[in-house]
Amino acid sequence: MTASDTIITLELGHYRLRERIGGSAYGVIWRAEGPRGTRDVALKLINEAHMARALPAQRERWIASAENEITILQLLEPWDERHIVRLLDSGWHNGLPVLALELLDCDLGRHMAALRGRGQSLPLARLLAWMAQLNQALAKVHQYGWRYLDLKPANVLVDAQLGAVKLADFGTNRRLDALGEHSYAGTANWQAPEQFFPAGGGGYATGRQSDYFALGALFYFLATGGAQLRYSGACGEAYREHHTAGADVLLRQHGGLPAILLPDEEALFMRAFADATSGAAAGTTSGPAADAGAAALRLLRHLLASAPQARPLHAVDISRQLAAIAGAAGLPGGLPCSPAPRQVRTGWEPRQLAALPPAQSTHWWSAVSSRTHAQRAHAGWHSDAEA
Ligand SMILES: Nc1ncnc2c1ncn2[C@@H]1O[C@H](COP(=O)(O)OP(=O)(O)O)[C@@H](O)[C@H]1O
Ligand SMILES: [Mg+2]
Repeated sequence: MTASDTIITLELGHYRLRERIGGSAYGVIWRAEGPRGTRDVALKLINEAHMARALPAQRERWIASAENEITILQLLEPWDERHIVRLLDSGWHNGLPVLALELLDCDLGRHMAALRGRGQSLPLARLLAWMAQLNQALAKVHQYGWRYLDLKPANVLVDAQLGAVKLADFGTNRRLDALGEHSYAGTANWQAPEQFFPAGGGGYATGRQSDYFALGALFYFLATGGAQLRYSGACGEAYREHHTAGADVLLRQHGGLPAILLPDEEALFMRAFADATSGAAAGTTSGPAADAGAAALRLLRHLLASAPQARPLHAVDISRQLAAIAGAAGLPGGLPCSPAPRQVRTGWEPRQLAALPPAQSTHWWSAVSSRTHAQRAHAGWHSDAEA
């Protein structure tokens, strides 16, 4: 069992657990102190208490899921990772996989709750920039041959200093080239219809466009200051009560697929958008706020189309629409997509080696020559700490 002050040894160094900062049935996230002279990290461990009660098949799935997450994050090059959380180190503890991730400030769910608590909403420029960043992150996941399948506020991390977001939690991903239906995966109240309602063979026929549906649900959530579509709420509740059989219950209740975006939800979205575009222009039917609102509603409808093939085909389609919204809203310089890149150094400095624990030096030095992914990421991590 892990507790505060436990030392965890991974491939590149030792980490001391400091405080638990998040988790679910599957994972437990700790803020941990890393090797001397480096920033604290987020250590993601498998939830051992739940693991002890789980059936063997479920235990295997959890381990496979953590290994999958490590594999995906290791595939990324440092320059890929601007809007994907960085893996700094990995290894095993008590026979279970562990990830050391760059530590961010909080997840998007908590960030939005804090804004709401202060009576604030997300400024329009930030809303559009975060949508663009998540679109970019999903494009990267798709480019590497995966679908993400679990986009939701709890899996998006906020870097308060940069005012940027990063995608985290890659345990649910499935390969894009695995074309058959798959078992149930993801979180019911953020899912596309094809991810919640089984296909003919009883499995789920998801694809890249399933991620775009969740991006649409997130667009609605961010623009309205945290509201959830009634469609998504209904799926979440049906799953809580009936597990995967909830899909059938909903189909019977609604005589088919429940409506996804209702007229009053569109009106709420438009009002929120008009408020964000220009406080004074709220409720206007013409002018820049109305144009931006209309373009935003077009994108929302496009992302939330019930049929996957009616959603955007590609990330470029989404980024064009976001740019059009920004242009219509008169945002200076168009779309503020990404913050300026931080400098990432790929080589090692002698003083970095000097800061390592002596017993680890040989291991670290040999890792330098083989230039593993984790080592490259670690180099970037050092330079970030100095930036
Ligand atoms: N790198 C990180 N920095 C800060 N907080 C994090 C980090 N990674 C995860 N968290 C927190 O822990 C929670 C659970 O992490 P996640 O990777 O989604 O695990 P799980 O697979 O258990 O859902 C997140 O919602 C977030 O609040
Ligand atoms: Mg998660």
